[in-house]
Amino acid sequence: MLIVGNWKAYVQSSEKAKKIFAAAKRVGGHAGVQVVIAPPAPYLGMLAVGNRSKVEFASQDVSLSTGGAATGELTAAALADAGASYAILGHSERRAMGESDEMIAEKVRHALANRLKPILCIGEKERDQDARYLSGLRAQIAAVFAPLSQKERMQTVIAYEPIWAIGKTAAEAITPADLGEMVLYIRKVLSEYLPGRGAEKATILYGGSIEPGNARELASGTGVDGFLVGHASVDADTFSRLVKALY
Ligand code: PGA
Repeated sequence: MLIVGNWKAYVQSSEKAKKIFAAAKRVGGHAGVQVVIAPPAPYLGMLAVGNRSKVEFASQDVSLSTGGAATGELTAAALADAGASYAILGHSERRAMGESDEMIAEKVRHALANRLKPILCIGEKERDQDARYLSGLRAQIAAVFAPLSQKERMQTVIAYEPIWAIGKTAAEAITPADLGEMVLYIRKVLSEYLPGRGAEKATILYGGSIEPGNARELASGTGVDGFLVGHASVDADTFSRLVKALY
């Protein structure tokens, strides 16, 4: 199970950052889980220095800029150099700020060029009775995957995050049955882009109100490979319980 803690902008003190990281290291050493944390960039740099634990780091985004005269931008190269090994890209909160599929595709290429594994977020705003949201998801994948090489596609993790389930409670998250169906659907779309057993082997995460109370049931029998966790990843005790539920 790959568990990615997306700290968003919830953490704004180094003291809190250190506390959550310490908890992540304690629970992240278990053989059954790979814990990745995505702190705000200053804390990523601070925590990743000299990290010898099993916990890895993700950036929450990368810049469209590849460097030079671009004040305020965080490039994939700098984030990788600071200690990130993954990059969360196309998160719905960034799409809401105006990121297009084309921009996200470009960011995926920047990430891969700097040996950051992209975690490509896709997800529908709401569900309609005619299941048109499924073609929206297909389009989100196509826009990013079509221009990539087979090798690049294989390194890209998909995070299915239905927007209607983000930032709520476990009770409002997706059901195991629906998640199982969505994972199958996403693998079917991926099979158009990945050769052989590529789609079967692809890493698919779910995100949207994952908490200690629903992680286990959503992990079993749904075919999902892990979770992208928001609010439940920024409290040391809650995050520890969540990870342990997946041992
Ligand atoms: P949430 O956020 O766990 O707070 O719903 C998930 C995400 O947006 O990545």
